[in-house]
Amino acid sequence: MTNFHASGFIRITRFFCWHVCHFTGSDLPHTFNALFCLLCGSRVLKEARPFVKWAGGKRQLLEELTKGLPRFENYHEPFLGGAAFFFRLEAEGKIKTAFLSDSNEELINAYSVIKNAVFDLMAELALPIYANSETAFYKIRASKPTSEIERAARFIFLNKTAFNGLYRVNSKGGFNVPFGRYTNPRILDSENLLLVHRALQKDELYCGDFTIVLKNARRGDLVYFDPPYFPISDTSNFTGYTKVCFSQDDQKALMKTFKTLDSRGCFVLLSNSYSDFIADLYTEFDPEVVHANRMINCKGNQRGKIKELLVRNWEPQVAQRNLLKEILATN
Ligand SMILES: C[S@@+](CC[C@H](N)C(=O)[O-])C[C@H]1O[C@@H](n2cnc3c(N)ncnc32)[C@H](O)[C@@H]1O
Repeated sequence: MTNFHASGFIRITRFFCWHVCHFTGSDLPHTFNALFCLLCGSRVLKEARPFVKWAGGKRQLLEELTKGLPRFENYHEPFLGGAAFFFRLEAEGKIKTAFLSDSNEELINAYSVIKNAVFDLMAELALPIYANSETAFYKIRASKPTSEIERAARFIFLNKTAFNGLYRVNSKGGFNVPFGRYTNPRILDSENLLLVHRALQKDELYCGDFTIVLKNARRGDLVYFDPPYFPISDTSNFTGYTKVCFSQDDQKALMKTFKTLDSRGCFVLLSNSYSDFIADLYTEFDPEVVHANRMINCKGNQRGKIKELLVRNWEPQVAQRNLLKEILATN
């Protein structure tokens, strides 16, 4: 078969699978479609999407983030969350190896189960205990599974069925979001899980504080920081992804890490909500203001466009400063 015919055949098969899923409500054709894509090679694969709804997810900002990216070696993302930017770079074939981390243990466990045991996870999520009902929700929320696969299934289930897709824990680390009453949440999204599984194959996953990036990042690597938002108003201080909040001192420590990586010769990119405090921390890198849709806000009527800050260290003036530093150091 010529390439042209092969790609036509693949498109028709995928089209067929999508429609069978749509009209029957069954997940099997999606799974078949994704397996088929895996066998047919990367050219026909769709971009993986975040498998969790995540506060501060970056899908709205992807165009801005990918603008003017330099060629880089390895990729590092130490506030991984839903990993929207990583999936975009991966789909564009820009990732050699990625070092991905987050301080949320349950999130990283889910990534590592998707990477290493995706079929077991899919089988677990297909069990009737993961039903979209209030009784099932509170039963799973109260459970404390110990196996990695059950923990990952519980995490995904709660994320899809809890109110607003929030991940929020109390001071003891217990998940405390109420049932969301969605009509048809995709608790088991086999196709996307398989795409995520594939995207993670050459990557390393860690659970821990963002400073972990200092261990692995080398000259020529790209580091993307997307820390918990610095609160822009009293009602927007959502930072409850883990039992520890991200304070002003953490933002300052992050700025120091940014500068250390800058002087190491890494390309460093950071996004945050716009505030004078954050803008002042990075003045020397000329932060850029862009607009994004905020996806999760505790008050539904306060969703909308917000100002975000993007900080890059490879704007021309910064590149020149680094070059000058290098020239001075070698003379
Ligand atoms: C704004 S979210 C990242 C969103 C992500 N870019 C996306 O597209 O979904 C911030 C993430 O930082 C994590 N986090 C909070 N404190 C951290 C810390 N000290 N070190 C590393 N990760 C942390 C949270 O668990 C959360 O996943």
